Amino acid sequence: MHQSKAKITAIGSYVPEQIMTNQHLEKLVDTNDEWIISRTGISERRIASKHEYTSDIGYQAVLDLMKRYNKTVDDVDMIITCTFTPDFKTPSSANLIQAKLGIQQAGAIDLNAACAGFTYGLHMANALITSGLHKKVLVVGAETLSKVTDYADRSTCILFGDGGGAMLVEYDEHNPSFIAYHLDSEGEKSHNLYVTSLSSTMNEEQLQATEKIVQNGREVYKWAVSSVPKGIASLLQNANMTLNQMNWFVPHSANLRMIESICERIHFPLAHTLYSLVHYGNTSSATIPLAIDLAVKENKIKRDDHLLLYGFGGGLTQAGIIIKWTI
Ligand code: COA
Repeated sequence: MHQSKAKITAIGSYVPEQIMTNQHLEKLVDTNDEWIISRTGISERRIASKHEYTSDIGYQAVLDLMKRYNKTVDDVDMIITCTFTPDFKTPSSANLIQAKLGIQQAGAIDLNAACAGFTYGLHMANALITSGLHKKVLVVGAETLSKVTDYADRSTCILFGDGGGAMLVEYDEHNPSFIAYHLDSEGEKSHNLYVTSLSSTMNEEQLQATEKIVQNGREVYKWAVSSVPKGIASLLQNANMTLNQMNWFVPHSANLRMIESICERIHFPLAHTLYSLVHYGNTSSATIPLAIDLAVKENKIKRDDHLLLYGFGGGLTQAGIIIKWTI
């Protein structure tokens, strides 16, 4: 990999106020708390309010980043919003976040790589900055999955939640964050996880009736536990590093049983694995920044720690990166 010239300098996150517990789901579908916890590890998830959309959640995550790190984003020259639940098909949620922040003269695009979105976004930010074309890139992972979740389907509605995370990536050739990456796509398996039609001109009720996450959970599970360890091996090879050198493993928080199985297969301790699913569920593009931010707030992650981030999901796609923590 080209020597990176990009450094992560700030992180922020946000989740909506409303909590949907497993007990609440028991009233909607034939399920129970014990089944959900034993199969997924999820206790509760956050749900966006009726008028809260992905750009609102992403915007709040950026405000949190600015406040905590005393950062201005006025001079950001690119905003990448990673999401598969944008407010509209067009304009992009990144356009809306740019407007809410009042940033002038910045590029703004959405990136859809489903649950691998945030690691793709960080990879793109590194590429744009290391190439010398951009200096300061805002990467936002935000989702309102509750708006496309079928609350009559007990095998999917138990999994998903809403939330967002953001990272600021800036030019720094002396102390870069990015060490290696590995990307993969298996579109031939895309029928195992997809969203039906999208149309943001609809109101909430119409939206709920048409846009739905459809998933073959078993197949996705089997794919993830066999493909992700192989991808991690390629990523480590690209970095010329071993898992022993990783302080933290941050897989996409899809399902705790899946994470445990991956950890067993790669021989990495669960105690050094970060996930955000217990209280937030699967928030797709937001799970990785949420998990990192929870650990930052608990003072678990130290400067210069090595983190292996690994996103995977709809596509089916995967994106892993190894970073040095530089905040
Ligand atoms: N509560 C109670 N029972 C449920 C249930 C629920 N919420 N959801 C499914 N079941 C039932 C099924 O109907 C089935 O019953 P049957 O044997 O009478 O037909 C039984 O539990 C087993 O179903 P199955 O789908 O095989 O369960 P599973 O052990 O595979 O768990 C998932 C289902 C969805 C939790 C699991 O497949 C999974 O997490 N897959 C990965 C999904 C994912 O992470 N997707 C996002 C990737 S980014």
